[in-house]
Amino acid sequence: MSNRIVLNTISYHGAGAIAEIPGEITRRGYKKVFVCTDADLVKFGVAAKVTDKLDEAGIAYAVYSDIKPNPTIKNVQDGVDAFKAAEADCIVTIGGGSAMDTAKGIGIIINNPEFADVRSLEGVAPTKNHAVFTIAVPTTAGTAAEVTINYVITDVEKVRKFVCVDTNDAPEVAVIDPEMMASMPAGLTASTGMDALTHAIEGYTTLGAWEMTDMLHIKAIELIGKSLRDAVAEAKSGEPGSGREGMALAQYIAGMGFSNVGLGIDHAMAHTLSAHYDTPHGVACAMLLPIAMEYNKPAVTQRLADIAVALGVDTTGMSTDEAADAAIAAVKQLSADVNIPTVCEAIVEEDLDVLVKDAMADACFPGNPREATADDVKALFRKIMK
Ligand SMILES: NC(=O)c1ccc[n+]([C@@H]2O[C@H](COP(=O)([O-])OP(=O)(O)OC[C@H]3O[C@@H](n4cnc5c(N)ncnc54)[C@H](O)[C@@H]3O)[C@@H](O)[C@H]2O)c1
Ligand SMILES: [Fe+2]
Repeated sequence: MSNRIVLNTISYHGAGAIAEIPGEITRRGYKKVFVCTDADLVKFGVAAKVTDKLDEAGIAYAVYSDIKPNPTIKNVQDGVDAFKAAEADCIVTIGGGSAMDTAKGIGIIINNPEFADVRSLEGVAPTKNHAVFTIAVPTTAGTAAEVTINYVITDVEKVRKFVCVDTNDAPEVAVIDPEMMASMPAGLTASTGMDALTHAIEGYTTLGAWEMTDMLHIKAIELIGKSLRDAVAEAKSGEPGSGREGMALAQYIAGMGFSNVGLGIDHAMAHTLSAHYDTPHGVACAMLLPIAMEYNKPAVTQRLADIAVALGVDTTGMSTDEAADAAIAAVKQLSADVNIPTVCEAIVEEDLDVLVKDAMADACFPGNPREATADDVKALFRKIMK
């Protein structure tokens, strides 16, 4: 069996990197940009940091911002209509995972119109053409949707969130500029940062993990362990610092890895919580992370011990088993330090059977290193109930 790696063609990293965007558009001869962002990012002037650059360069654009967190099929379909109405020929997406994932769906459907229902894109869809040329600019430090081959859409009617996996949707260009993330409040910095940690830990322990992705995930875990507390403190104080820069890079490195090997039970359960209760993705992932690690420990004890070291725990004199426990404790401590809740108040007993069914049907579920039964999944959901 061979392993496959798909990444952006070009990525820019560092403060001020958005200055590269106009040149990437004009040198390819594109005439009109479809700016795909969300309403709050327009309101708070975050999208304007990029559109100002387009204005300065005299590049025409239309803005689409009708996108909610945990974006819906309708957000994608309305975006397809807006793209056509704008007569655009390329996409610049500015946002967290919600805006970037919507842009991926739009870009795929424009070039593969037979998937216009969106639902048929679930799983690995046999699209023929690459999405519309896209430059992705993240404004949160978590999802890494700017480099991944995945996007996640909510089916409001069926009360489920589904993952689409498609090498045709990887944005050609990613621009990871920590200044685009500077306006994130502390809570969003914490939850999206814990999403990135979940990607790195699930990516390191997933069934498909191999040397190249191991290298990326361990580096990401190390950087997140060093940076997340500082990034949250910087968000509170408004002072710039190395925490935010570290998180911008770390979340991208985690994305380079997990996009190519998949995730596990934490993300399968987190998608289900967001579909049923609109729980923010990062919060859902973070609440479940130590619980999923504990559950998977028998299958990946040594790997959890490696994670303890990457998180800066001194494991000298510990057995592998103790070091694995230390990794779980370190994740719990980090979560507590950045104020992640441990309980999802919305879950009620009557919902448990459907939550279990949906989590087990999620595209991330088969990647989990320990095979889980319905009873196991139910017991895990119970651990975050009030
Ligand atoms: N494609 C992937 O590989 C991938 C991976 C993980 C998660 N996801 C998906 O991404 C979505 C979550 O994305 P997210 O966690 O980045 O959050 P988000 O995009 O849903 O944004 C959450 C809120 O934060 C605001 N926000 C974003 N950036 C901001 C900034 N710089 N300053 C102030 N406010 C800002 C947004 O306007 C929004 O109101 C979920 O739907 C999740 O399933 C996708
Ligand atoms: Fe995630």
